[in-house]
Amino acid sequence: MQIDTLILGAGAAGMMCAIQTGERTLVIDHAKAAGEKIRISGGGRCNFTNLDIQPENYLGQNPHFHKSALSRYTQWDFIELVGQHGIAWHEKTLGQLFCDNSAKDIIAMLMDEMAKAGASLWLQTSLADLSHADGMFTAVLESGGKRKTVQARNLVVATGGKSIPKMGATGLAYDIARQFGQTVTETRPALVPFTFPEGRFKALAGVAQPCRMYAQGPSFDEALLFTHRGLSGPAALQCSSYWTEGQPIHINLLPSAALAQHLKTVRTQIGKRNLTTELTNFMPQRLVDFLKGEMDLSGNLGDLSDARIDALEQAFTAWELFPGGTEGYRTAEVTLGGVSTDGLSSKTMAAKDLPNLYFIGEAVDVTGWLGGYNFQWAWSSGWAAGQEI
Ligand code: FDA
Repeated sequence: MQIDTLILGAGAAGMMCAIQTGERTLVIDHAKAAGEKIRISGGGRCNFTNLDIQPENYLGQNPHFHKSALSRYTQWDFIELVGQHGIAWHEKTLGQLFCDNSAKDIIAMLMDEMAKAGASLWLQTSLADLSHADGMFTAVLESGGKRKTVQARNLVVATGGKSIPKMGATGLAYDIARQFGQTVTETRPALVPFTFPEGRFKALAGVAQPCRMYAQGPSFDEALLFTHRGLSGPAALQCSSYWTEGQPIHINLLPSAALAQHLKTVRTQIGKRNLTTELTNFMPQRLVDFLKGEMDLSGNLGDLSDARIDALEQAFTAWELFPGGTEGYRTAEVTLGGVSTDGLSSKTMAAKDLPNLYFIGEAVDVTGWLGGYNFQWAWSSGWAAGQEI
C-alpha cells in the first residue's frame, strides 16, 4: 500500500498533525484507543492549554527551538478550534484551561477533525520494521498477528516519551531517531513526585500547604502535597523538572505571611498563647505537629526572644530537603529530554538531513511546565509538521 504520510502515534501531536495532512495519511497506534493520555489528563478534564504561553515555560537543551511552532499555532488557535466544536471550558488557576465536561470531548473533536480531513486510523497496530530507500519509507505494520507493508513519502514520529509505560509509552521515537542518525539527549522523568526514605512524611500524607518552592531552577508558588512516599502537588511536580539527583529542594512554607513580624506583634498582646497554637493560623495542625519533631516549637509567645522568632521564620521559609529520588516513569507526567533539537528544523520539525522524517510532541527534547504547556507543544509541533507536509 502506498500513502503520502505515515504517522506513528495517535496521541495529541499525531492527531493534530493528521488533521493538517488529511487524505492519504495513515495514523497507527498500538493502543486500543486514540488519545489515551488526553483521556486521563487533568483529572479527566484535560488541561488542554494555558492562556499565558511563554518560551520560558519550556525546558530543553535549546531554549529557542520551541518558539517558532508555539508562535505559529498558538493557544488562541486551539481555543478557537475547541470553540468551533462547542466544548465548554473554564480557567481553573494560573491561566490553565480545562474542559467543563470531560477530556473525552477533546478526543472526540480531534477524531472528528481527522475524519473530516480524510486521514485513516489503525489502532492496535505496531511497527515491526522500518527502512528508507529512494526517498520512500517502508514500514512493516503488524496487527492481530497479520503483517502489512506500507510505503510512505513522509514519516512522522509522534509516539511520545517514556512516561507511564502502563499506558503504552515506549522508547520507539528514540530508536527511530537513532536509526536515522539523530541524536537523543539524556531522558529522565519530569513532573513527577519526589520520594524520601521510608516513612519521612507518612504522618503528613494528605496534608496540603501553599508554598514557594524551587530546585535548581525557577521558583513556583503553588500547593505542596505530602504523600506516603514523599512530596507531590503542583509545586513539587514543577520543581522535579529542574531537580538533579543529590541536590536539595528549597521550600518556603509561608510565602505570603510575614511570620516574624506577626509573632512579635501577637507576643505583646497575648504572651500566654502557645507558639504551636498560633502557628495553626498559618498551616494545618498536622503540619505543625510534624514540624515539632523537626525543630524546637516549644513555649509561649511571651517566652520567645526576637532572635528565636527570626530563626523560626528562617526555618519556615528556607526549609531545605534532600529527596531520595522520584517516583520515576511510572507516574511521571512527561519525559524530559528526547530527540535532540539540534538535528531538527524548528519551523517544520523535520530532520535536517532527512527532510521527510518528522519528530513531534513529547518525543522531542522540549518539555513544558505543568499547566497545559505540554499539550500546547503537542498541538503546535503537530500543526507545524502538518503544514510542511
Ligand atoms: P502521547 O503520549 O500523547 O501519544 C503517543 C502515542 O503513541 C500514544 O497513543 C501511544 O499509544 C503511541 N505509541 C507509543 N509507543 C508506540 C509504539 N511503539 N507503537 C505504536 N504506538 C505507540 N499535559 C498537559 O498539557 N495538560 C494536562 O492536563 C496533562 N495531564 C497529564 C496527566 C497525566 C497522568 C500524564 C501522564 C500526562 C499529562 N500531560 C498533560 C502530558 C501530556 O499528556 C503529554 O505531554 C502529551 O500527551 C504528549 O503528546 P504526544 O502526542 O507527544 O504523546
